[in-house]
Amino acid sequence: MDGNGRWAAARGLPRHAGHKAGISPVRMVIQECSQRGVEALTLFAFSSENWGRPSIEVSGIMNLFLDALERETAQLHANRVRVRIVGERRTLPVRLQALVAAAQAQTAGNDGLRLQLAVSYGGRWDIVQANQRLAEQCLVGALNPRDITEAHFAGALELADVPDPDLFIRTGGERRISNFLLWNLAYTELYFSDGLWPDFSVAHFEEALAFFAQRERRFGLTYPPPPPAAGQAGS
Ligand code: FPP
Repeated sequence: MDGNGRWAAARGLPRHAGHKAGISPVRMVIQECSQRGVEALTLFAFSSENWGRPSIEVSGIMNLFLDALERETAQLHANRVRVRIVGERRTLPVRLQALVAAAQAQTAGNDGLRLQLAVSYGGRWDIVQANQRLAEQCLVGALNPRDITEAHFAGALELADVPDPDLFIRTGGERRISNFLLWNLAYTELYFSDGLWPDFSVAHFEEALAFFAQRERRFGLTYPPPPPAAGQAGS
């Protein structure tokens, strides 16, 4: 969700106005994903690096998250959305932590869209915390370092129980991942949109979906897949 600051600057407004205007497309994308039967949506709302921004901007963004959770959780629950925050939760303001915990508990039993809000999240941080979890298991003898597999590692990441994303969308014109889901994006289709996040509309979202629909996904294999080996026909 990139481009809030530039959207505001182009209008002679403070950056906060851009972040505020960014809420409406968040609502739209959640609704579209819910209605289209998308299984999981992860929104990169605040990175580990974003803490280095001026404190007035950081506290403004934290207050936006607070207000949004307070205002929207009931509606999300009514739409059967399962909400979760992924990231370094202990770094968040205490009131936000409490609201997040309440929203997660309220919506945990829902069977609709799985919504992850990545807040105080970094792909590198996630990899490090996964390593710490596995190292702790090794320390207590529950795991042998030599037995660690990709599945163990994936299982220790924040999004352990969420399938790897099929499609990544970045607005704002930059062509980079910027420390988002580094492990999980290995075979994700990457889509970059030049528009700024507050202007992201249903039409833009549909353009991204149309791009995805044309991709031929091979996951390192050949396409079309080879015929079954002799003796396996029909299995
Ligand atoms: C990046 O644009 C945007 C952010 C760091 C904040 C994202 C927050 C929202 C979209 C508000 C609503 C979100 C939720 C989940 C309720 P930027 O500030 O880096 O823009 P720039 O590149 O133009 O400066």
